[in-house]
Amino acid sequence: MKHFENIKLYKDKGEHLYIQLYKAIKKLIMEERLSKDEKLPPIRKLAQKLDVNNVTVVNAYHILEQEGLVYKKMGSGTYISPDFLTYISEEVEDQKIIEGLGSLSLIEQGQIQIKNNMINFASATPMAELFPVDDFKEVLNEVLDRDKGHAFDYQESQGYLPLREALIKYVREYNIFADINSLQIISGAQQGIDIIAKALLNYGDTVIVENPSYTGAIASFKSRGAKIIDVNLIDDGIDIDDLERKIRIFRPRFLYLMPNFQNPTGISYSRSKKEKIINLCKQYNMYIVEDDYLSDLNFYSWDNTTLKSLDTNNDLVIYVKSFSKIFMPGLRLGFLIAPSIFYDHLLFAKHSSDISTSGLLQRALELYFTRGTWKEHIKYMEKKYKSGFDTMLRSIEKYMPSQVEYIHPKGGVNFWFKLPMEISSRELYEKAIRKNVALAPGNLFFIHQNDNNHFRLSIASVNNYEIEKGIIIISNIIKELINDINRSGLNEEKYRPIL
Ligand SMILES: Cc1ncc(COP(=O)(O)O)c(C=O)c1O
Repeated sequence: MKHFENIKLYKDKGEHLYIQLYKAIKKLIMEERLSKDEKLPPIRKLAQKLDVNNVTVVNAYHILEQEGLVYKKMGSGTYISPDFLTYISEEVEDQKIIEGLGSLSLIEQGQIQIKNNMINFASATPMAELFPVDDFKEVLNEVLDRDKGHAFDYQESQGYLPLREALIKYVREYNIFADINSLQIISGAQQGIDIIAKALLNYGDTVIVENPSYTGAIASFKSRGAKIIDVNLIDDGIDIDDLERKIRIFRPRFLYLMPNFQNPTGISYSRSKKEKIINLCKQYNMYIVEDDYLSDLNFYSWDNTTLKSLDTNNDLVIYVKSFSKIFMPGLRLGFLIAPSIFYDHLLFAKHSSDISTSGLLQRALELYFTRGTWKEHIKYMEKKYKSGFDTMLRSIEKYMPSQVEYIHPKGGVNFWFKLPMEISSRELYEKAIRKNVALAPGNLFFIHQNDNNHFRLSIASVNNYEIEKGIIIISNIIKELINDINRSGLNEEKYRPIL
């Protein structure tokens, strides 16, 4: 009762007494003056002490419980929540730091500046600690000893032949049987998408994308003056009826799709939907750009087939493969496999972009692949990510308020959430940044950026401890926002018809 004796409530303050009491107890908790699992004073006793009705105390305890600050034991009383005290994070008060770190204008350009102790759910890029630096150093040294100055020559624009051969073998494991000429090395998938846009799109051409979609691709298509049409995603992939309708109306040059663990939603297309899309493209004589940034990270999906593996004649799908999520993004290495009619156009676009991807790195990657070190590394990454993935699912189930909807992915690194209508992801973003947690507001992933209710959390850059801590912090902010709305609803003046 010690700390509670100093609480003062003012009847003439114009604020409900129960709100004043709730705030006063919350302050005690935030200042860590109450210890975890400490029992709050019994309702009647505290009411007497403060000279208020029992209901005032009941209401105050109720809000604290909704916010996860306290919990009730049947027949025993109300106690301080242990989880909350463990995870109270310091507020960042310096406005300059907040602006620098989390400025929405920076994040809208696809970047975020991360402070050392920040929990980074915003970027879907693996942590540097996971990079196989020693193994890669070994292959780099070996290449330098073996190839000397040739390692620093211009490499042929299509890519270093032994690496292309190794990749053709690698994709066979995923049932993609492609000709060596169809494979083009690229400096990352982003460049791949960009040269596809350059090679295939003329001003005013239409591209169909998923709604929501990957920002980097949208930016590339926009830069070519393309008209971008979006089609909603449902549980098992793109809405196929709407897709067909829009194909008929707009006759797009191609569809840009991520059929496995889509970015940002984590949705995977069902096998039958993948087959239907291939058939639609045959029927309407249309191409697909398949962005396979992540199908390797399959934890619980029955089917992570690529569209490319269903394109048995190799004439519909341009397959773009990134290694950034499972290997080292800074290498800027990836590849694409295209139908033969595009070989020359793509090669020309690649050449005019950067002549060739670094020969030294291509040679090192080839050794890394053929040694089998790659396979070991992928197994290691899978294990790491799976543990983070499971922790994320558990934490969401345990802490996230039930008013928040989310898509349960079967693999990958992204989790997609929908807030109740009245709560804005922008506000959530700003409050989370103040608590050292970064997330990606959903508007970034929509072509007109007009969404205000979604947000994406990625587990790529966070460890298990941070995942749980971060989810508790985000959940508490959302609970607070929900409570604010409920409270303002309570105080609202009501207008009734005069009857
Ligand atoms: C869906 C998707 N495609 C492509 C890329 C670009 O990958 P890369 O680093 O290989 O250029 C990203 C990067 O985040 C992505 O999320």
